[in-house]
Amino acid sequence: MQTQQTALNGTVSTRRMLLDRAPDGDLTTGHFRMSTDVLAQPADGEVLTRTLYLSVDPVMRKIMTNRTSEPNGLNGVFGLGAGDPMRGRTVGVVEVSNDPKFSAGDFVLGWGGWQDFAIEKASALVAVAPVAGQPLSVHLGPLGRPGITAWLGIVLTAKVEASDTVLVSSAAGAVGSVAGQLAKSRGARVVGIAGGAEKCEWLVSTLGFDAAVDYKSADFLQQLEEATPDGVSVIHENVGGAVLDAGLGRMSAEGRIALCGLLDGYQAGIGEAFAYKNFGLLLDRGLTLTGFRIDELTGHHQQALVELRGSLESGSIVTTETVTEGLENAPDALVGLLAGKGSGKHLVKVDDSFDR
Ligand SMILES: NC(=O)c1ccc[n+]([C@@H]2O[C@H](COP(=O)([O-])OP(=O)(O)OC[C@H]3O[C@@H](n4cnc5c(N)ncnc54)[C@H](OP(=O)(O)O)[C@@H]3O)[C@@H](O)[C@H]2O)c1
Repeated sequence: MQTQQTALNGTVSTRRMLLDRAPDGDLTTGHFRMSTDVLAQPADGEVLTRTLYLSVDPVMRKIMTNRTSEPNGLNGVFGLGAGDPMRGRTVGVVEVSNDPKFSAGDFVLGWGGWQDFAIEKASALVAVAPVAGQPLSVHLGPLGRPGITAWLGIVLTAKVEASDTVLVSSAAGAVGSVAGQLAKSRGARVVGIAGGAEKCEWLVSTLGFDAAVDYKSADFLQQLEEATPDGVSVIHENVGGAVLDAGLGRMSAEGRIALCGLLDGYQAGIGEAFAYKNFGLLLDRGLTLTGFRIDELTGHHQQALVELRGSLESGSIVTTETVTEGLENAPDALVGLLAGKGSGKHLVKVDDSFDR
C-alpha cells in the first residue's frame, strides 16, 4: 500500500506525559513526568497523528489505581499505573496514513493520549470535520463524549418532559452544562448545583437555568429547598455523595434519577463509601435510579449527535471551554479541573497550527 504523508518526514520523536506514581489522595502535578521517545513508523492499518487537543476528564483520576493489568469496573477501561503514558481522547490531524480510510491532512477523533504524536489504529479513529463557528475541540465537548453523555442522561434515561423539575449536579461542567440546557430545551424547570457563586450566576444568566445553588455554601440545603419549592422529579447525577444525598431529599414520588457519574469519590479512591441518609427514600417514594454508560449505548450516539449539532447551530445550547496551552501543562489542567477551576469542557491545546 502507498503510504501518504505530509511534510513530516523521517524519524518522529514525541513528548509523552507519564503518570510517574499513582496518587494516594489528592492528585498533584508532582505525580507526572515527561519523557521523549522515538516513534516507530505506522504499520499497515495504522496512522501517525499530530495531537491538536487533549480532553481532560475527571475519570482520569479515577483510573489511577496502580493496577494496569485488571479492568477496574470502568467498562473495560484499564487502570493507570506508575510509569504508564496518560491515556485520553484527542483531536488530531493525520500526518502519515497507512490505511485507505485516511489521508494526510484529515482531522480525526482518537485516543492518542497525552503526547505530541501518536500511532493509532485506523479502525479506532473517527474522521471529524470543522464545524462553522466552532473550534475543532467541539468534537471533545458538546459534539463529543460529554455532549452525548448529557443526551443519554436527559433524553434516553430520564425522558425529561416539560412538566419536570430537573436537578443537575456539577452543572457548570462539560456534561452538566449540556444536560441542563437539553432539559431546558424540553421546557422543564432546571436547577443546577455548582461550586461557588460565580458558577451559579453563569448557569442562570448565560445558560438559562431557572436557578442554581452553591453546594460549597453553608446554607446549601436551604438554597436547594428554596430553588425547588415543588420538589424535584428528575436528577441528572454527576457527583454523588453529599450532593446526591441532598438531591434525594428533594425528590417527589416516582421521581427518576439518571446516574451518570460519582466524581465526589474519584480523589478519595474506589471503595470509599459515603453513608447516604436519604437512601431509604428510593423505597418510600418509589424512585427509579438508573445508571447508564456511554460505551454501552453506542446505538444512540448518532441520534444524540444530530440533536446536539442542531442545538449548537440554533444557539439553544451554548458551551464554554477551559483551555490550557501546552502539553507540558496538562497535569495543571487535570489538577485544576479536579479542584473546580474553570467551567465547561476542559482541554489542553497541544498544537495551534489549525486554529481558526
Ligand atoms: N456515564 C457515562 O457514560 C459518563 C461518561 C462521561 C462522563 N461521565 C461522568 O460525568 C460526570 C461529569 O463529567 P465531566 O467530564 O462533565 O466533568 P466536570 O463536571 O466538568 O468535572 C469537573 C467539575 O466537577 C466538579 N467537582 C469536582 N469535585 C467535586 C466534588 N467532590 N463534589 C462536587 N463537584 C465536584 C467541579 O465543579 P464545581 O466547581 O462545581 O465543584 C469541577 O469543575 C463525571 O462524574 C464523569 O465521570 C459519565
